[in-house]
Amino acid sequence: MDNRGVLVEKIDDEFVCNFKKLEMPVIEDEEILIKVSYSSINYKDALSSIGNPGVSRNFPHVTGIDLAGEVVKSNSDKFQGGEKVVVTGYDLGMHTKGGHQKYAKVPASWALNIPEGLSESEIMSLGTAGLTAALSINELLSAGITPKSGKIVVTGATGGVGSLAISILNKLGFCVVAVSGKKEKIKFLNSIGADEVLLRDELDLEGSKPMLKSEYAGVVDTVGGKILSYFLKSLKYDGVATCCGLTSSHELPTNVFPFILRGVRLIGIDSVECTLKKKQAAWERLADEYKLNNLDTLVTRIILEEVPTKFQELLLGRLVGRYLVKVSD
Ligand SMILES: NC(=O)c1ccc[n+]([C@@H]2O[C@H](COP(=O)([O-])OP(=O)(O)OC[C@H]3O[C@@H](n4cnc5c(N)ncnc54)[C@H](OP(=O)(O)O)[C@@H]3O)[C@@H](O)[C@H]2O)c1
Repeated sequence: MDNRGVLVEKIDDEFVCNFKKLEMPVIEDEEILIKVSYSSINYKDALSSIGNPGVSRNFPHVTGIDLAGEVVKSNSDKFQGGEKVVVTGYDLGMHTKGGHQKYAKVPASWALNIPEGLSESEIMSLGTAGLTAALSINELLSAGITPKSGKIVVTGATGGVGSLAISILNKLGFCVVAVSGKKEKIKFLNSIGADEVLLRDELDLEGSKPMLKSEYAGVVDTVGGKILSYFLKSLKYDGVATCCGLTSSHELPTNVFPFILRGVRLIGIDSVECTLKKKQAAWERLADEYKLNNLDTLVTRIILEEVPTKFQELLLGRLVGRYLVKVSD
C-alpha cells in the first residue's frame, strides 16, 4: 500500500502546500484505518494550508476536514474491515492528519456508517458544508419556522454552506433570499433555488438605525459581521437566525432591540464537536427529506493533485459551490 496526499510543511517560517508521497498511517487501540475514496474542500482546509494557527498548529500536516471511504483495518469493536464510513469534524484535518490522503487513520469514535440513501460521492459532495447547512435548517424548523412564516435569507450564498442551504430550503418549499457578493452568479443562484438575490454591496451595512423593516422569518448566516447584524435587525417578530461562519468577520456589532422588541433568536451552529448522534440524525435527513437531486449542478469534481491550487483560488474568493475531491478508486 502506498500513501499520497496534500501536505502542508513549514519551511523557513513559510507554509508550503503540495501533493506528495506520505508515510502509511499506523493505527493504535480504538483506531481505524480508512481507504479514502472521497473528500471535499472547505474554507477551514484553505486556512490550514496557509498555517492559520486557529485551525492547525502541527506541521507537517495533511489537510481535509472530512472524508468518506472504506475501513481497511480496525483496532476497535465498533467497525470491521469493509464497512463504508464518513468522518467529519472533531480534530480531523486540524491537528490530526486529514482526508486529503489515500489512507487516513482516525479514532473509531469519530466515524459513522454512511446512511442508506447516500453514496460515498454524494456524502462528500455535501461534506462538512452540507452537514452544517442541515444543522442550521434543523434549528429553524425546531424553532417553528415553516414556509408560511415568510422568507429565509441565506448569506455567503455561492459558498459551500450557503449554496447547499439554498437548495435544501427550496426543496422544503421555503421562499429563499440569497445574499452574495458575486453579481455574475445571480443566474446560478436562481438555478439552485434562490427566489431573490441581494448583492451585499447594495446593502446599507453602515446605517446606524437600531432596527430595520421587519421582513424575514429566518436567516442562515455563514459570514458574520455587519451582514449578520443587518439581517438580525430585519427579522420579523419571533424570527430566527443561525450563525455558523465568519467569512465577513468574527465580530458581531449589534444591539439588543431585535431580541427584546421582536423576540428574535440567534442560534449558534457547530458541526465540529457536536455529538455523533446529532451528526447521524443530520446525515439521515440529508439522505431522505433534505436529499438533493441537483447535487451535480452544485459540485465541481477534482482530483487530489488539484487541491493545493484550489486552496489558493478559495482564499481569493473565486470558488463557487462545492468541490468534491476524488481520492482513490
Ligand atoms: N460552525 C461550523 O461548524 C462550520 C462548518 C462549516 C463551515 N463553517 C464556516 O462557515 C463559513 C462558510 O463556509 P463555506 O465552506 O461555505 O465557505 P466557502 O465555500 O469559502 O464560502 C464562503 C462564502 O462567503 C462569501 N464571502 C467571502 N468573503 C466574504 C466577505 N468578505 N464578506 C461577506 N461574504 C463573504 C462568499 O459568498 P458570496 O460571494 O456568494 O457572498 C463565499 O463563497 C466559513 O467561515 C466556515 O469556516 C462553519
